[in-house]
Amino acid sequence: MSVQPSDSILIVDFGSQVTQLIARRVREAGVYSEIAPFSLAEAAFARMQPKGIILSGSPASVLDDNGPRIPQTILDSGLPILGICYGQQALMHQLGGEVLLGDSGEFGRAFIEIADGCVLFDGLWKEGETHQVWMSHGDKVTRLASGFRPVAASPGAPFAVIANDDKRIYAMQFHPEVVHTPDGGKLLKNFVRHVCGLTGDWTMAEFRKTKIEEIRQQVGKGKVICGLSGGVDSAVAALLIHEAIGDQLTCVFVDGGILRAGEAEQVVSLFRGHYNIPLVHVDASTLFLGGLAGVTDPEQKRKFIGKTFIDVFEAEANKIGGAEFLAQGTLYPDVIESVSFTGGPSVTIKSHHNVGGLPERMNMQLVEPLRELFKDEVRVLGRELGLPEIFVGRHPFPGPGLAIRIPGEVTRERCDILRKADAIYLEEIRNAGLYDAIWQAFAVLLPVKTVGVMGDGRTYDSVCALRAVTSTDGMTADIYPFDASFLSAVSTRIINEVRGINRVVYDYTSKPPGTIEWE
Ligand code: XMP
Repeated sequence: MSVQPSDSILIVDFGSQVTQLIARRVREAGVYSEIAPFSLAEAAFARMQPKGIILSGSPASVLDDNGPRIPQTILDSGLPILGICYGQQALMHQLGGEVLLGDSGEFGRAFIEIADGCVLFDGLWKEGETHQVWMSHGDKVTRLASGFRPVAASPGAPFAVIANDDKRIYAMQFHPEVVHTPDGGKLLKNFVRHVCGLTGDWTMAEFRKTKIEEIRQQVGKGKVICGLSGGVDSAVAALLIHEAIGDQLTCVFVDGGILRAGEAEQVVSLFRGHYNIPLVHVDASTLFLGGLAGVTDPEQKRKFIGKTFIDVFEAEANKIGGAEFLAQGTLYPDVIESVSFTGGPSVTIKSHHNVGGLPERMNMQLVEPLRELFKDEVRVLGRELGLPEIFVGRHPFPGPGLAIRIPGEVTRERCDILRKADAIYLEEIRNAGLYDAIWQAFAVLLPVKTVGVMGDGRTYDSVCALRAVTSTDGMTADIYPFDASFLSAVSTRIINEVRGINRVVYDYTSKPPGTIEWE
């Protein structure tokens, strides 16, 4: 059962690439919002009882017979509605206006001229002014439905912003949710505050209270177990659940010998020492590294690690007498259902389980208290819960750990070598004050030996590659442009201090065409 914040906005998703940004902007305005695919929008509407609706963009066309439609319940609700791009066209199409295939379309930056006053422009835009927005449309509205008036126009969209004040329905052809519409966040804020009348008092503190209540309702007197990975998501999920149900929660931390330097110690001291949360710490390094012996294929490594993690986790869960619930740090981008904009019944569900396979195998219900949050919101919640900064701001770390940063065979010795080099690299990054400017930085140990000379002697040792990227979501990435002097200082330290490495190289590959990890 879900406990809803009393003041919320429902975002109906028609399949735009940027729908998630609408949710972020609304939350930044202090109002809770959720996204529902158009085909499930009526159910979400009934469950949430929102105070306003936002209709997203879409790659589809309203002129297509199969183009997605706004549910009638929403049109009849009398609630404030804001249509964005396709959302505007769908409103006009369904309310009696006209939409035609544009002969050229507008894509990218455009300028609109403000023609009239509008509540969306309060404190922001005035008649006669010109403002930058971001457009991405082929079709356009050519006649307004009755009751609407134009309040802004662009050269390619005569009805760039339209208003029906009596019905409290507003719409725009451009995308206010993207950063290329510099005032877009304020337009959305005006909609949720001034049109929907919401006060904007949704905060992480309120989310924390709501979630704690929800966890208590879901779990009752049951037992919950939570796998900690050392990362921020599982840590925040565990803290929140512990606050809700105390020692009904047990955390399990499986150390397969493929973690970074100091990671296991930090998790144990934080959870057991600082928070006093029941924690089972399993040293399964022999099992993991034994099974990885001789394995060089990246996919085989991943499969073995995933399966072994489940085996160990299940065995430990059984030792403590099992549990009815499994907690996971699943985030919102993992659960948002991707929309089939053809209008057919097939809605592809993108559902990612951090511990894939476990819930089915162990027949447990999932507790996923972060499933409505974005990564940066999880960090805010972590700080709210007092999680130390070293956890909160941590770079992402993949489940298969160092094993996919050691191309070729993974051995205990090679893990030790990599751990040392990686720790030096990260220490230098932190000392230079660069850690937070980088999405992810790590060392990779290559299965290549090269000749070097140290002192008077010849060396024949491994090559270490350094990787650092900037990214917003891990889907695309750019290399981080370190100064040459920084890289040379790190290289010198690694070669001097880590036995087994005699050469350091820097990876200059963006994603695409590379991936962030090497395997
Ligand atoms: P790639 O290498 O695909 O990585 O560009 C994108 C992001 O995902 C992380 N990653 C993983 N995380 N299990 C995880 O939990 C995995 O198997 C895995 N593979 C990659 C990677 O660290 C980066 O942040």
